[in-house]
Amino acid sequence: MEEECLWGKGHKKAVENLLSAVLRSNTAVLLGPRRVGKTSVVSVMAEKLRRKRGYHYVYFNFSRFIGSRAISIADIEPKRTSLKMVTTSKSYKISFRGVSVEVRKTSIEEFSRDFSTLVRVLSQNAKLGVLIFDEAQVLARLKNLDFRGLLQEITDSYPNISLVFTGSMPGMLVEYLNPSAEKPNFMRSAEIFALPRWSIEEGRGYLIEGFRSYGIKVTNELELSRAVEELGGIPGFIAHYGVTAVNLVRTGKDPEEALPVALEESRGYALEEWKKDIEAFLNVYNSRVYLGVLRVLAEAYPSALRGAEIYRRLKTLGLAPTRVQHVYKYLETLEKAGFIRSSERRYWIEDPLLREAVKRFNLS
Ligand SMILES: Nc1ncnc2c1ncn2[C@@H]1O[C@H](COP(=O)(O)OP(=O)(O)OP(=O)(O)O)[C@@H](O)[C@H]1O
Ligand SMILES: [Mg+2]
Repeated sequence: MEEECLWGKGHKKAVENLLSAVLRSNTAVLLGPRRVGKTSVVSVMAEKLRRKRGYHYVYFNFSRFIGSRAISIADIEPKRTSLKMVTTSKSYKISFRGVSVEVRKTSIEEFSRDFSTLVRVLSQNAKLGVLIFDEAQVLARLKNLDFRGLLQEITDSYPNISLVFTGSMPGMLVEYLNPSAEKPNFMRSAEIFALPRWSIEEGRGYLIEGFRSYGIKVTNELELSRAVEELGGIPGFIAHYGVTAVNLVRTGKDPEEALPVALEESRGYALEEWKKDIEAFLNVYNSRVYLGVLRVLAEAYPSALRGAEIYRRLKTLGLAPTRVQHVYKYLETLEKAGFIRSSERRYWIEDPLLREAVKRFNLS
């Protein structure tokens, strides 16, 4: 949550971009793959806001529901806020100087009314209020209530309340927030940012700096570049690698020996995490055809394949849908979820560790 701890040009820039968007009363959207640092970036932004007099934020995190088929209003509960908050099993209460609002989770009607009141009171008492929804594509699976109605009401009625959304499934988030681009809605004034992975130099710089702070000197910088590349430039995995190496050195291993061991370990960790992501996706988008498509693309890499070719290869796996046209629906969903990419109607998997995780996945 501390700005000094946030490494990388793209990440620092993202904090500034989000801040200036919310200060202009615009909706801000931060997209990026898992573990790239979205939560870190919005947390640093929120902390910077809090330090300004009269500025407040309320932060919701839905990442633990990524693999859930449905969520309920009970799951829409702030994880953190710059205000005073007390939670119980049935409600949460947020207090401003002298005023407090209780948001009940006991029925849809009570929740909607109370949430509206909360936003109104926030608007009346803060110079600027920012509501942050982390992994917001999950809100599309909220049962019995279209949360977008409340979001629309907020942007229509309160110029001093801004919204921030993050999502690791970019196409799904944008589609949820902006289902029909022609219709004016709360995305009218949205600013969309993509959080980049670290470059090799940034990743290496982070590791050298980190090791230095523990008094560890690494002479083989090439090994660090290799690690950053193999971990796909994803900060979450590179941080894991760094911590693992530090722990190995602290238990007496020579740094030159510790690095390859740490890389093996964090590669294993990253593959496990990707596996969990695939499983979470399959839990919601319940079809093994997705797995077949991913396998076909992982094995074809570095070739990018057309739909018809994917279909042909799915048949040999025994995982083809009934018609070749259907394969495009699966491809579209996988692309919206951020697992695959396409250009000129050819499809591929970009991330090296995702390709590896897919190859290891049991198809039967
Ligand atoms: N710019 C950064 N500087 C330092 N550490 C970072 C940075 N970005 C991410 N990290 C580290 O990587 C890990 C993952 O980051 P974070 O949780 O912010 O990513 P995320 O995109 O929200 O991931 P998830 O998809 O798991 O929600 C964290 O432990 C964090 O410490
Ligand atoms: Mg996150």
